Amino acid sequence: MKLVIKKDYDEMSKLAAETIKGIVNNKPTAILGLATGSTPIGVYKELIKMNKSNDIDFSKVTTVNLDEYIGLGENDPQSYRYFMNKNLFEYININKSNTFVPNGLAENIEQEAKNYDNKIDELDGIDVQILGIGSNGHIAFNEPSDVLIAGTHLTGLTESTIEANSRFFDSASEVPKSALTMGLGQIMKSRKILLLAQGENKAEVVKELLSGKITTKNPSTMLQMHKDVTIIIDEEIGKLIK
Ligand code: F6R
Repeated sequence: MKLVIKKDYDEMSKLAAETIKGIVNNKPTAILGLATGSTPIGVYKELIKMNKSNDIDFSKVTTVNLDEYIGLGENDPQSYRYFMNKNLFEYININKSNTFVPNGLAENIEQEAKNYDNKIDELDGIDVQILGIGSNGHIAFNEPSDVLIAGTHLTGLTESTIEANSRFFDSASEVPKSALTMGLGQIMKSRKILLLAQGENKAEVVKELLSGKITTKNPSTMLQMHKDVTIIIDEEIGKLIK
């Protein structure tokens, strides 16, 4: 695992965007694994700029997102599909039919989960997966638990995740209690992983992620078993984990 400490959020975002640019320029049909939340917004802003200046072409790129809330559809401003449209897809030259987000409105969620995994396998896997990390160590919505699940699956959200994500809603009671999420096994199949973490509330879990110990109580620690992971953090976390 490689650790990179950048001065601030902008520098972290630039590094991740440059890495994605390199991958797409090398393989125009690249499969990008994308995340939502506050962390990747800066990366998406950089990618939009690069696309405008013709430094990256998304016309043949495919994207797969990590997760979606159950019960929220693409027109719901809180859905992750809406987030992706508004923070990236509407501003780049990507073919919308090549962007995949789990369907939180699917009638048969189990089938939707299977189809999502099959889709990723058909695409021959993810070239680079962008990850944020929850302050409880979750990646995607793989929450701390005794058992972690390999494939895409329905999951309940922990109180701490509901609380953390309530900042995007009018109140915590409006945050959906469950989500469809890519599983750890699927994430680990990505050829390259970039995990970004910023802010002191992530310091403890990042420290565990770098500890050499693996525990399902901090799902991100599984990433230590992957052969190409770069953890990109800011100086604030850097100081706290020394
Ligand atoms: C989002 C996702 C989550 C977030 C994590 C951090 O698609 O899968 O795991 O990456 O909750 O969220 P932020 O970046 O908002 O701190």
